[in-house]
Amino acid sequence: MSHREITVTVNGAVRTATVEPRRTLADFLRQDLGLTATHLGCEHGVCGACTVLLDGDTVRSCLALAVHADGHEVTTVEGIAEPGEMHPVQSALWESGAFQCGFCTPGFVMTIYGLEQDARAGRPCPRSRTEIREELSGNICRCSGYQAIVDGAEAALTAATATATTTTEGAR
Ligand code: FES
Ligand code: FES
Repeated sequence: MSHREITVTVNGAVRTATVEPRRTLADFLRQDLGLTATHLGCEHGVCGACTVLLDGDTVRSCLALAVHADGHEVTTVEGIAEPGEMHPVQSALWESGAFQCGFCTPGFVMTIYGLEQDARAGRPCPRSRTEIREELSGNICRCSGYQAIVDGAEAALTAATATATTTTEGAR
């Protein structure tokens, strides 16, 4: 099979690689770039463990192809905070005890991170627990830790919304 050279900005760094057209974005991230925090559960688009951001939108990297990311920006859970530090979404989940085995955690973090970025930017984001549960329904936790995950998401989104409100009011 022919190969294609792709250039993708991953977590702010420009990465170039030669890949088969059928290579998934998940395998490109994990195997070619060594970014193994993106987990693979079902590899069928069901569990959400492989969620990353592509140009700011959440995507299932097991269903996307690496060539689709050519010329675009990808953010993985390794890229949302400085090494050794936690992003506010990660802190909120930590403080809520929102994990058991942790396998699903990177996918949940990236889904909530995408929502949190919307909240910070003043864009619509889920506010009620019902809406949060709906937004998180594409992520599966096999340890069934949903209550604490929703707690953490609610805390992170409430804080981000408050930040957006403060910023907006400060600009008036
Ligand atoms: S591994 Fe991609 S959705 Fe399950
Ligand atoms: S914490 Fe184990 S799968 Fe979610």
